[in-house]
This record gives sequence, structure tokens and C-alpha cells, in this order.
Amino acid sequence: MGKLSLQHCYSINDLRLLSRCKIPRAVFDYIDGGAEDEITLKNNRNAFDRFRLNPRALVDVSSVDLSTTLLGQPIAMPLILAPTAMTRLFHHEGEKPVARAASKAGIIYTLSSMATTSIESIAQHVEGPRWFQIYVWRDRRLLQDFIRRCRESDYKALCLTVDLPVHGNRERDLKNGLTIPPRIGPRLLLDLIRHPQWTWHFLRSDPFTLANVCESLETDQDRFILKEYIDAQFDPSVTWEDAAWMIEQWQGPFVIKGISNVEDARRAADIGASAIVVSNHGGRQLDHAPGTLDVLEPICIAVSDRLEIIIDGGFRRGTDVIKALALGARACMIGRPYLYGLCAGGEAGVDRVLQIFREELIRDMKLVGCRDLSQIDRNTIIN
Ligand SMILES: Cc1cc2nc3c(=O)[nH]c(=O)nc-3n(C[C@H](O)[C@H](O)[C@H](O)COP(=O)(O)O)c2cc1C
Repeated sequence: MGKLSLQHCYSINDLRLLSRCKIPRAVFDYIDGGAEDEITLKNNRNAFDRFRLNPRALVDVSSVDLSTTLLGQPIAMPLILAPTAMTRLFHHEGEKPVARAASKAGIIYTLSSMATTSIESIAQHVEGPRWFQIYVWRDRRLLQDFIRRCRESDYKALCLTVDLPVHGNRERDLKNGLTIPPRIGPRLLLDLIRHPQWTWHFLRSDPFTLANVCESLETDQDRFILKEYIDAQFDPSVTWEDAAWMIEQWQGPFVIKGISNVEDARRAADIGASAIVVSNHGGRQLDHAPGTLDVLEPICIAVSDRLEIIIDGGFRRGTDVIKALALGARACMIGRPYLYGLCAGGEAGVDRVLQIFREELIRDMKLVGCRDLSQIDRNTIIN
């Protein structure tokens, strides 16, 4: 692995391996891990193996068009960068390089409400369409603040995440004793010495903050355990009525992320959501939930005439995206892949991730015999 550089990473898995060399193990585990026995994490990947592709021969595929629209917004390929918390832990520049890479690639970036860069700062420094992801703090005034700030900064959609009423039981983080920001004590010391570049940048760059909530929330803690923070600060009493209220307040495209069955998908459509993300938080929340690709098709059959359907969880290849589109999804979100890229090489690493997805998608579309995304349908895959 010593010789592996960004240019010699040919797949997302190569970038994952490179990122593992570049950052402390505790930080890598926070990105890479899932809840408890990581069954759902594996279910997400294993679901792709249950579907095979059905190539059509002798189609003119001399040029392939990956473009589509999402909630009325043109995008260059059917990918969205998922919201991820704490990005400054992974790279000293935080969320900005990720948002810039998305903008260059012509796709949407979703800023997390647990981000380390503010709503306004992303809007000021990065062009391109962006969404904002909401968690609901016990202090409900933050919600109204988010809505106002996103409107003022021209965010195209709000995305409410609904699969985190409490923090998942991520045992890798507990074993590693991960605090946010990391406490440089004896436990982490060796890990940090082995990654001098990460440690140097981390210590020299701006202090770590949850940039979207730090001004509104008074806290006497400058360091916290994520699970304890979330369980203390997030409101587990949020209901469909609250989601409906948010839709009414926002009056724009509204996405509900974390749906995993037909009943909830119907409910989301009933309250007027514009899109759902079929998601289990990348296997980080409820263990033993099904792989998202396994539940996608019935959801698409039930509600695709009423809202747009996005999916995430384990997307690592162009063929994965084609399978999801064939089952009825409009686009796929990726989380860990771009974080691996970011850890491996900053903005250039995220660029590389998006280049790999684009090249794989174009090649795979040609191999499967589809010139554009509208030609991908249920006949493109076999169970
Ligand atoms: C490090 C990390 C942090 C995350 N933080 C958030 C978050 O703040 N909000 C959210 O809705 N989802 C969050 N997620 C879940 C992602 O948005 C997405 O659902 C998941 O990563 C998709 O699976 P994948 O990583 O296999 O692509 C996070 C995921 C990771 C890996």
C-alpha cells in the first residue's frame, strides 16, 4: 500500500485503503464503521450481489449521456454527495473541498447540520446547487433558524434525516475512546505519531466547531463523546406532524432521508415531501435493518408517481448505480466514498472519487447497452 497514490487508485476500494494509511485509526473507524455487529453495513453491499445486469447487444453507444434532473435541478450524473458530520476531523479544510468537488462535477452537495463549516460559509465560497440536512435539536428554535438561514443562502432543498432518534451503537468508536475533537492522550498518541501529517494539520488549523449550532447553543464542554452529545441534544420526540410543519414553513423542495419501507414512503408522500432517500444511514444506526437495495423496488412501485426516490448505502461502483436506477431510483447518494477520497488527498481525492464514478458509469452504460439514463429500466437487471 506504501506506493499507492491518488493516480494509482483505480476504484473506491483503492481510495479506502489509501485513506486508511493517511489518518489515525480511530478517525478511519468512525468513517468506515457501522452499528453493533455491522450486519446492516454488510447487508447494504450484499444486496447488490442479488441482482445481475442484462446487457443488450448491438446498440449504438458511441456517446453516453449521464445527465438528469433532480427536484427540477439539472445534474451531470445521478449522484448526490450525502450529508456527513464532522468533516474537519477527516481533513483540515473541512467541507469546502467536498462542496467544490461536487460543484466542478455538476452534482449536488448536502451540508450536514453537524458540519464543521457554516451554511453561510459554504454558500459564500462555493458555487453550485446545495441542500441542507436537518437534525432536530431539543432547542426547537434552531429549526426556524436553519430554515431562515437556508432560505437566505439559497439552499435548493432541505433534507430531514429521520433514522437517528438516538445515536446508533457504534462499538468501534467506543473501543477507540473517540472524543470530538480527539483528545490527544496516551490512548491516541501512538496513532497520531504514526500519522504526523494529519496531526500537524489538525493542530495548526482553525479550532473544531459544529459551525451551524455553536452560536445558538451554550455548552460548557469543549470536547464530547458523539453518542452522549446526540442523545442529550437531539429531540427523540419528532413525529410526522413536525415533518409536515417543516414542509409548510420551508415551502420548497423537501427531502426525507432514512425511509426503509413502503408504509413510511407513503406517509412521506401524504405529507407532501418532494423526495425520499431510501437509507439506513450507511448501516450506522439500527443493526439488522435490510440492505437498502433490497427494499427499493416495492417503495418505487408504491410512490414513484408521487415523489422522487433517492437511495444510499454501499454505492461503490457504476454498476451499483445502474442497478438502483433499474429498480426505479432517480439518483444515488454516496457518503463514505467521498470521505475516503477526502482523507486520501483532500479536494483532489474527492475529484478522483467522482471521476472514478463517472468513468465507471459511462463504461458500464456502454457495456449494458444504454445511451442515456431513460434507457435503464427493469429489463436492465435480472434477480
Ligand atoms: C462519517 C459519516 C458521517 C455521517 N453523518 C451524517 C449526518 O450528519 N447526517 C446524515 O443525515 N447522515 C449522515 N451520515 C450518513 C450518510 O448521509 C449516508 O446515509 C451514508 O453514508 C450512505 O452510505 P455510504 O457511506 O455507504 O455511501 C454519515 C455517514 C458517515 C459515514
